Amino acid sequence: MIQVVILGTGNVATHLFDAFLEASGVEVLQVYGRNKKSLAYFSNKTKTTTQLRELKHADVYIMAVSDDAIGSFSNQIPFSNRLVVHTSGGVDMDVLSNKNRKGVFYPLQTFTKEKSIDFSTIPVCVEAENVSDLTLLKKLGEQISKKVVEISSEERSKLHVAAVFVNNFVNYLYFAGEEITKENTLDFELLKPLILETARKIETLSPKEAQTGPAKRNDIKTIKKHLHLLRNSTHKKLYKQLTKAIVKQYGKKL
Ligand SMILES: NC(=O)c1ccc[n+]([C@@H]2O[C@H](COP(=O)([O-])OP(=O)(O)OC[C@H]3O[C@@H](n4cnc5c(N)ncnc54)[C@H](OP(=O)(O)O)[C@@H]3O)[C@@H](O)[C@H]2O)c1
Repeated sequence: MIQVVILGTGNVATHLFDAFLEASGVEVLQVYGRNKKSLAYFSNKTKTTTQLRELKHADVYIMAVSDDAIGSFSNQIPFSNRLVVHTSGGVDMDVLSNKNRKGVFYPLQTFTKEKSIDFSTIPVCVEAENVSDLTLLKKLGEQISKKVVEISSEERSKLHVAAVFVNNFVNYLYFAGEEITKENTLDFELLKPLILETARKIETLSPKEAQTGPAKRNDIKTIKKHLHLLRNSTHKKLYKQLTKAIVKQYGKKL
């Protein structure tokens, strides 16, 4: 049985907690949070604390806190020579305090507390300073996911940049699409099957093969019409920039 303490009560902490509860080989000994209110979700299922000095002895401490807090928070942990990992895609393992053994347990997915998720499909990227800790993190990952991969801090940063493109930027474009429909009293629901099919397509085609639309076809009249229709200057700039990139990708001239 791998004994875990979770530090943090946000999106990732909550989803990891739920996944570990379902796993036969993991015991969540305790969840730490800065305030009592945020611990309410966990408190009837495991022990909780708002005091770092009350942390129980565990095999691994998973710090699911904001990226910018990882370094300073790991320095506040009152014990030494235990395995303390963070869950960030964009933060180097070295940022963690030297007084404990360092590691990373990065689940490559977008998490929001309110949205349930099947953890078994989520790749877990692990890293550790020594072999035995790496083995433990792999075992822990395999308890909740079908895909656990060892990835260095350098590789993880690059993977994270790619993740920002395919998730954060794409989601922002959904938001822009929603704004455009709202401005024109159209129903955003009409676009949802298109959004889902765009994602499903890349299960069988490469993104390059899957591309369609006026920029790929170089339909200049349609592109000009779209630019004329756009009112919001941010949308206009994005449209121009992305159109340029797609046209360049397919080797055509505007
Ligand atoms: N959300 C995702 O999609 C996702 C995916 C993969 C990895 N990650 C990584 O997972 C980590 C957590 O992300 P999240 O989305 O779960 O964040 P979140 O929902 O915003 O939760 C952040 C947690 O960190 C705590 N915290 C913030 N500053 C702190 C400090 N100075 N000292 C102690 N605790 C502090 C917060 O406590 P309070 O509630 O008291 O403020 C909260 O419990 C980040 O490193 C992120 O990069 C996130």
